[in-house]
Amino acid sequence: VVETVEWTEKGVVMIDQTVLPVEERYVTLTDVEGVAEAIRTMKVRGAPAIGVAAAMGLALAAQAADPERWLEDLEAARRILAATRPTAVNLFWALERMMRKARTTRDPHELIAEAQAIKAEDIAMNEAMGRHGAELIPDGATVLTHCNAGALATAGFGTALGVIRAAHLAGKDVKVFADETRPFLQGARLTAWELMHDGVPVTLITDNMAAFFMKNGRIDLVITGADRIAANGDTANKIGTYGVAVLARHHGIPFYVAAPSSTFDLSLPSGEQIPIERRNPAEVTHLFGSRVAPEGVAVENPAFDVTPAELIAGIVCEHGVLRPPYVESIRAALGSRSAVSG
Ligand code: MRU
Repeated sequence: VVETVEWTEKGVVMIDQTVLPVEERYVTLTDVEGVAEAIRTMKVRGAPAIGVAAAMGLALAAQAADPERWLEDLEAARRILAATRPTAVNLFWALERMMRKARTTRDPHELIAEAQAIKAEDIAMNEAMGRHGAELIPDGATVLTHCNAGALATAGFGTALGVIRAAHLAGKDVKVFADETRPFLQGARLTAWELMHDGVPVTLITDNMAAFFMKNGRIDLVITGADRIAANGDTANKIGTYGVAVLARHHGIPFYVAAPSSTFDLSLPSGEQIPIERRNPAEVTHLFGSRVAPEGVAVENPAFDVTPAELIAGIVCEHGVLRPPYVESIRAALGSRSAVSG
């Protein structure tokens, strides 16, 4: 089993997701700048995995902190990590939780333990989502997914792929269609690799083929992960997810989201307030270092879009499957907790 992010004596060890599936390379990061760079360049990516990595980055900062300047040093590290990627709220949620712990102790071991708890809880939440969500997948179903919401995007097991994995482990015949997910190709490189590794039948398609297969009756349901879910259920996820949800509605196919409570941001009334990351135009103009577009062409590269709640048939979280109206079901499941952004 692949460990996405791991705390070791030598530092934070991650599988480098920019070189998968061609190479299985691990990097060891020993300071907060290294962890921040790994998040920014997407060596580690996926909302929950980014949160775990950031928590471990703060634990590294705690080990290096001057006890006389404990909170100042940790606050400086928090700012470096918070400036890496804006959309996935799990990052800010994990940093806030670590800073809360830092205000109660000056013992770095307690911060290391808190980061490890965040990781262990993420796996437990994914397994719970698997148990709830597997019921949504009928025996014999073909499920379309977008991006990678698997073990690699989390501390382990996965959110959307965790639900699929749970159905597979329960003995159901489940097939997956994976969108390649331009421009970063998380579907082609990571989802296809992960599912093949686990023996779940997977078929890779390019993003623009989804409508064709839906029209031909080949897709029974869609399930994706999420990077931030607003209080009304509007859901930010990888660019292209909104288009898949629109297609699913047109073809009468249910569209589900799977995400743990650390992905909900109840401080935002709707998806309109979710910050959308813009990434380097080179991700669009180049493929693995080779130019595929004319030099100087204007490029847009939003990394996420927002799927309106009205297109979502259900949101699987560790408490169960939430159904519309989401303002009520989310509040009932998650109570008054709200993620902090910044
Ligand atoms: O840019 P990425 O690869 O970090 O985006 C990842 C996604 O959009 C995932 O679907 C999301 O984080 C959920 S992962 C369990």
